[in-house]
Amino acid sequence: MEKMKAGERSGGAGRPGDEPITILAIESSCDETSCAICRDGVILSNIIAGQAIHEQYGGVVPELASRAHMQNIVPVVEAALKKADCGLDTVTAIAFTQSPGLIGSLLVGSQFAKSLAQALGLPLLAVHHMQAHVLANLIPGAADVAPLAAVVGQSGAEAAERSGAAPRPGVSAGVEARPEFPFLCLTVSGGHTQIVLCQSPLEMKVIGETLDDAAGEAFDKSAKLLGLPYPGGPLIDKYAREGNATRFLFPEPQIPGLNFSFSGLKTAILYFLQDQTAKDAGFIADNLADICASVQGRIVSILLNKLKKAAKQTGAKDLCIAGGVSANSGLRTAFREMGVREGWNTFIPSFEYCTDNAAMIAITGYYKYLEGDFAPLTVSASARAEW
Ligand code: KG4
Ligand code: ZN
Repeated sequence: MEKMKAGERSGGAGRPGDEPITILAIESSCDETSCAICRDGVILSNIIAGQAIHEQYGGVVPELASRAHMQNIVPVVEAALKKADCGLDTVTAIAFTQSPGLIGSLLVGSQFAKSLAQALGLPLLAVHHMQAHVLANLIPGAADVAPLAAVVGQSGAEAAERSGAAPRPGVSAGVEARPEFPFLCLTVSGGHTQIVLCQSPLEMKVIGETLDDAAGEAFDKSAKLLGLPYPGGPLIDKYAREGNATRFLFPEPQIPGLNFSFSGLKTAILYFLQDQTAKDAGFIADNLADICASVQGRIVSILLNKLKKAAKQTGAKDLCIAGGVSANSGLRTAFREMGVREGWNTFIPSFEYCTDNAAMIAITGYYKYLEGDFAPLTVSASARAEW
């Protein structure tokens, strides 16, 4: 993307040095319309309008998503400003999701953001959605900080002593903390599965990714095979809580390096369910919790085994997860247990910053603002983009 220097912003006069930096951010890459206000790196509001209309179709219908964004965007922006108790006259810059996503959905958010920036004479910040998922871990107060003792039955300090690691004060004890650079982030969403090595807020490198389906798709497609509505990930999570994850064993693919593959798992689940329902038509209904727990257990083990390998290869001690699938309770628990066992500091955004939200766009926009990484008004949305 074309980079502008601070002096040649998309519009407006310069900001006096000591005034707060207030970012208005818009996210519209898929089926959530969201607006957040962030002042000096602190999130003041994060309004998200979902789109229930897609449920009946078993997946997101792009044309319907664009239309819903058109309806939602003005009320969502107004609600975000109101909740933050902030007027448009105090906004310093406009951030928006530029890529990747559904092009019609991205166009609604990007055109709105560009129009607002031009009308108000403000600079524009074009944000990559996957980079923003990673930086959700830097939102102050975002970390899931339930005490580790609640997860593993021992205090973080005891765990650190056992592993020989020396976590920073506050990290494993469950006090608010943020990852230190360089850190690794496992970014797991509906369209992506990546291991990202982060050197600084804007310097990131993808060191592993899926060769086929994303982790979120693996959840959603498995749910569809079980007759559950879209999006199935949260439903598998819900039923899995009551189930036995060791009841059914699904294969773990042997993919070299740090890449992932989920298509074989999906096929294995399909054949397994076909065999079982041919013998017993009520098999799925009678065993739903155990099937969900077993599917979830395998997806989680595929993800964490690769993350563990990446941590050992890079020597990273701070590990994060991000993206919609990081809302999964099985992944959250297993991730934190792995951190305790291996002596790594683990970070998870709070639930509202895991699935799509504008707060993560705002925090990324904030770091871009600090770097003077502004976009020209000619910038356009893009369905796919490297980063
Ligand atoms: O990041 P996200 O909100 O949107 C994309 O950028 O794709 O991720 C959506 C994905 C969906 O596949 C959804 O099923 C999955 O995240 N997801 C979950 C959970 N919550 C959302 N998967 C498993 N367990 C959950 N609790
Ligand atoms: Zn996302």
